[in-house]
Amino acid sequence: MNLKTPEYVPGHDLIKGKSVLVTAAAGAGIGFSAATRAAEEGARAIVLSDIHEGRLAAAVEKLQAESGLSEVYGKVGNVAVEDDVRALIEFAEESMDGVDILINNAGLGTSKLLIDMEDEEWHRVIDVTLNGTMRMTRHMMKVMKARGRGGVIVNNSSVLGWRAQKEQAHYAAAKAGVMALTRCAAMEAAEFNVRINAVAPSIVLHPMLRKSASEELLAELESKEAYGRAAEAWEVANVMMFLASDYSSYMTGEIVSVSSQRG
Ligand SMILES: NC(=O)c1ccc[n+]([C@@H]2O[C@H](COP(=O)([O-])OP(=O)(O)OC[C@H]3O[C@@H](n4cnc5c(N)ncnc54)[C@H](O)[C@@H]3O)[C@@H](O)[C@H]2O)c1
Repeated sequence: MNLKTPEYVPGHDLIKGKSVLVTAAAGAGIGFSAATRAAEEGARAIVLSDIHEGRLAAAVEKLQAESGLSEVYGKVGNVAVEDDVRALIEFAEESMDGVDILINNAGLGTSKLLIDMEDEEWHRVIDVTLNGTMRMTRHMMKVMKARGRGGVIVNNSSVLGWRAQKEQAHYAAAKAGVMALTRCAAMEAAEFNVRINAVAPSIVLHPMLRKSASEELLAELESKEAYGRAAEAWEVANVMMFLASDYSSYMTGEIVSVSSQRG
């Protein structure tokens, strides 16, 4: 069974007038979709960031052309490098007169049996996926607290933070860490009016992911979903926009599964 993808839902000005920073925004997946959705939902300014310079320039140009939004900026950065994180947040703060919404999208995965895992691979995945999210969250919280006008952070975890899958011990551990980070940081940020939540997507297929995993595995993962298909990146971005908007004003420290399979 494969229940068809629904029609693309038009924007509803959910984040009208807000400024948005998205990490890992130059790929073919959730990051760029979130930036596109942010424009459609009324954002006044958006900073796209990514580690890949060439793709980032193209992504900025594409978003400007498609959205008609003049305030679209790009800043190259690696979320695993503290100096890059500081420079990125400083750039976003200055160019957009403060960041209202941070979307921590960056995460890195590989496939490896634990018994074959070298420390280097384990650390690389943890460093981008968990430590990168921590670095961005920590610095953004500091800046939002000092600025005093509140804000929202949306992290991107994964259902693998809850579920078991072979060859994913490093990535799953990192995503479980992102969930715990989200819950604990939210408790600290509430007093300065910053909400922090996370989405936990199951599977979003895009060309870059198709290159990194076997067709058999991807087909098996899709078949486990009640809808018999992967999510579109924009279906995850929609939930991010809900969490970024005032519609989720009573939610903080929550992990929202974007999945049609439980367990
Ligand atoms: N695709 C899925 O099935 C799926 C499922 C669950 C969770 N996620 C999570 O969603 C997020 C987005 O993944 P996606 O697959 O939609 O791809 P995406 O297109 O949103 O992100 C890929 C981009 O990340 C950039 N990137 C990689 N390392 C970086 C770093 N250290 N600093 C900054 N940018 C970096 C790449 O250059 C690339 O442009 C990730 O955190 C991923 O773990 C994805």
